[in-house]
Amino acid sequence: VTIFVPRDAAALALGAEKVAKAIAHEIEARGLDAKVVRNGSRGMLWLEPLVEVRTEHGRIAYGPVKAGDVKGLFDAGLLTGGDHPLCLGLTKEIPFLRQQTRLTFSRCGVTDPLSLEDYRHYQGLKGLEKAIVMTPAEIVKEVTDSGLRGRGGAGFPTGIKWKTVMDAAGPQKYIVCNADEGDSATFADRMIMEGDPFVLIEGMTIAGIATGATRGYIYTRSEYPHAIATMSQAIEIARAAGILGPSVMGSAHAFDMEVRSGAGAYVCGEETSLLNSLEGKRGIVRAKPPLPALQGFLGRPTVVNNVISLASVPVIMDRGAAFYRDFGMGRSRGTIPIQIAGNVKYGGLYETAFGLSLGEIVDHIGGGTASGRPVKAVQVGGPLGAYFPRALFDTPFDYEAFAAKDGLIGHAGITVFDDTADMLKQARFAMEFCAIESCGKCTPCRIGSTRGVETADKIRQGIEPEKNKALLADLCNTMKFGSLCALGGFTPYPVMSAMTHFPEDFEPAPMVEA
Ligand code: NAI
Ligand code: SF4
Repeated sequence: VTIFVPRDAAALALGAEKVAKAIAHEIEARGLDAKVVRNGSRGMLWLEPLVEVRTEHGRIAYGPVKAGDVKGLFDAGLLTGGDHPLCLGLTKEIPFLRQQTRLTFSRCGVTDPLSLEDYRHYQGLKGLEKAIVMTPAEIVKEVTDSGLRGRGGAGFPTGIKWKTVMDAAGPQKYIVCNADEGDSATFADRMIMEGDPFVLIEGMTIAGIATGATRGYIYTRSEYPHAIATMSQAIEIARAAGILGPSVMGSAHAFDMEVRSGAGAYVCGEETSLLNSLEGKRGIVRAKPPLPALQGFLGRPTVVNNVISLASVPVIMDRGAAFYRDFGMGRSRGTIPIQIAGNVKYGGLYETAFGLSLGEIVDHIGGGTASGRPVKAVQVGGPLGAYFPRALFDTPFDYEAFAAKDGLIGHAGITVFDDTADMLKQARFAMEFCAIESCGKCTPCRIGSTRGVETADKIRQGIEPEKNKALLADLCNTMKFGSLCALGGFTPYPVMSAMTHFPEDFEPAPMVEA
């Protein structure tokens, strides 16, 4: 009998290690024929640690399990999926999971992340097997036809980026995976690296073959120690198995890679700053052009793609571009792992085709607020994303639909706030965040953000509120159009959306009689 206990950082933070030890202890003490497999997370974070047992009917889930529950679970017949107050029934029937379309995350939480046997058993390496017998142009066409767009946030067509690198001349080209994942409320990159690292290795290797790059780097943050450890081990296993190295799976293609960790600056998620950091320099933004696709890492043609963009490539190569692009709406094709967080009842990762409305995601999938109070605002796309009020809940999850409403889906993280949220405070926080994280290269961001904090404070204090509101809007305009990168350029989104949709919060606080 196999019992699954996640090794994902979220599950570990909630006590999964103690649970795994308690289960191992019970197995030994009772002399049972069972083993514990440490899987990734299924993404239902309110149920972590989620323990599963494989039975003849399928996997049965229990959660959230504490170490103290383990003895009782065994007494209730855990190994045969016995009934217990923590029993959730068949894992695949849990509504949050059942309603998803898991293409990129199909194996996450299902397999042992470091078992190549598991990986192959669940369709792993099929995409790469196809790619090694295709020409680079054929691979690039497949990715282009799939409609895949950059999942880091900007939504640039992945196939077009690859074509630029494929067509670029250079003695050495690189694949750089942006795993810095600095956006608040996002954890999709981390979950893949911890729960299904081979899919990222496979995606990067395919990118290498398609563009002529023979070296890859995964740039991630030092705050992701579990992801770094799992990815590094997976790379060694893949190398030992001949998937990485001078002859990828026995082919004439060479590709190898390594993990590099940053020191935790938000701006190092910006691709040119990331490249500087990867080169051992200070993480400061470079002006574009030249594009990294032409002059990237060490001045060579470089693909810089987000983890999820690269991890979506194997399923595209395996099932075909038409299969993938069949999901979604408009120009947003395929699936997107939405990360639901903040003040929400059911937080976690929900992979689905583009097109669900924001209201469905927050009210139905997320179950509304954890506090039970009404939802006031939802910030979509990380700290640089806009705050959407309930009035915009019919907006479908789609790059263009969000842009049309002065928002962005970014890396698909959503943070829910209840009616106690103070939107002027949130607007000030956006400016403060920008001031702290600014790389300092350009004036609108470096100085504008600090002036923004001061202006928000004046509005709060009731100092010439109308004049200062106009000044804040003017400042946002300057930052939006005058900043060199998205950090300064997108900070106006949370500020302006807060001011536009929640004007009442920008009224001066009523004077309190002494
Ligand atoms: P961008 O629009 O400047 O570029 C997008 C990508 O397309 C870049 O990789 C760029 O080099 C590439 N590109 C553009 N034209 C090209 C061409 N002709 N050929 C080849 N490649 C080309 O956007 P940027 O600044 O890279 O990203 C901004 C986004 O980052 C925002 O939308 C935001 O949502 C997101 N973001 C994500 C975070 C995260 O944690 N994942 C954190 C902060 C921001
Ligand atoms: Fe640096 Fe901010 Fe300018 Fe970006 S916008 S280059 S972070 S100063």
